[in-house]
Amino acid sequence: MKNYDVIIIGAGAAGLMCAIEAGKRNKSVLLLDKADKVGKKILISGGGRCNFTNLYTEPDNYISANPHFCKSALSRYTQWDFIALLESHSLSWTEKALGQLFCDQKAGAFVDLLVDECKTVDVDIRLESTIEGIKKTNDNFEIDTNTQPYQCHSLVIATGGPSIPAMGATDFALTVAKQFSIKTLPFNAALVPFTFPRLELESFIKDLSGISTNVEICSESGQCFKEAILFTHRGISGPAALQLSSYWKQGESIHINLFPDDDILAWLSEQQNAHPNAELKTILAYKLPRRLAAKLCENIITNKIMKTYNHSALKNLAKLLTDWRLMPSGTEGLRTAEVSLGGIETNELSSKTFETKKVSGLYFIGESIDVTGHLGGFNFQWAWASGWCAGQYV
Ligand code: FDA
Repeated sequence: MKNYDVIIIGAGAAGLMCAIEAGKRNKSVLLLDKADKVGKKILISGGGRCNFTNLYTEPDNYISANPHFCKSALSRYTQWDFIALLESHSLSWTEKALGQLFCDQKAGAFVDLLVDECKTVDVDIRLESTIEGIKKTNDNFEIDTNTQPYQCHSLVIATGGPSIPAMGATDFALTVAKQFSIKTLPFNAALVPFTFPRLELESFIKDLSGISTNVEICSESGQCFKEAILFTHRGISGPAALQLSSYWKQGESIHINLFPDDDILAWLSEQQNAHPNAELKTILAYKLPRRLAAKLCENIITNKIMKTYNHSALKNLAKLLTDWRLMPSGTEGLRTAEVSLGGIETNELSSKTFETKKVSGLYFIGESIDVTGHLGGFNFQWAWASGWCAGQYV
């Protein structure tokens, strides 16, 4: 049976980073993946440009049952460390909105960088390897695969979460956890578009398909995001909606402020004075996309001539426009979710080494753990940081 110091299952962002770091410590490393390519999610991320980190990465950008767990890793391997790695390979980057860093080259260049680093330290990468069984024997693990069995001292599970199963994503981490009696939280879709009941969709939302507008969107529990939403033929997407979906619970409404940067009552009063004979929909179109203004006046608020609204009617209008409540029927689920909430419970792991407390030599990293980032490069930063940290100890 071929023997390695370290076997890593999952050649995504976290697994590649862990392999590189373990290899630098002269460990013999085998990286196994069932896919036919490494880093498939890196390749499709950020519209092919990979939003690989965020300049403003902080623990507050992560959701976890234990919000303190991520602090250690994020402070030991920072966004600046990954930027330095990128620059050492002559790759360049551009900051887009809100500290989001994108690769100027295609995401494939990123994967090449990680694979080159693996080659430099002799990491053995075996693709199309299906794991058929894991056995712990005293100080070692035996891994049975579709091709041959392997043995190792340290076993790292870096198989991510189950979002976008069509790409081969699985909840394999939960299966391994169950085998070793390690506690988990169920995986749930996050960073995913909202869906709506047929009636709302047909009478309203579909007609707005393609329209994007800047809003503040809040959950019932008061979690808010100020970014754009995008109406689609299936519901509401766009960065603000995706962010909120990570906090939304079935049966809750979402609250949309269509004028997040204005004192809308003052503005409506001004407009009433300036254009007393204009219709409300014409006035709203000064600040909102025209089709949205018209549809709001058709379905949500009454379209009248501006001078006919008294002060209390204007106040009501302002309330409706800044606290527009919608009741999603659900989300698109794991089929299109960018990430998943849940995974290995963090109190099962050392936040320094990522080794499980119950089974020595067994590690979990990346999205398989109950740490989920906001939209904007935070999930890759978590994958790099957790992979790097485990790589120092395996
Ligand atoms: P990752 O999913 O990357 O890797 C897991 C690996 O394990 C895969 O190679 C898979 O084939 C393998 N595997 C799974 N099950 C297996 C099994 N049973 N046996 C063997 N191998 C198995 N994040 C971000 O920060 N910025 C962004 O721009 C984006 N964009 C984005 C777009 C889209 C469409 C998606 C779906 C996701 C993103 N993300 C993102 C999220 C980001 O891709 C994700 O959080 C990281 O890839 C997680 O890294 P991991 O290494 O943990 O898992």
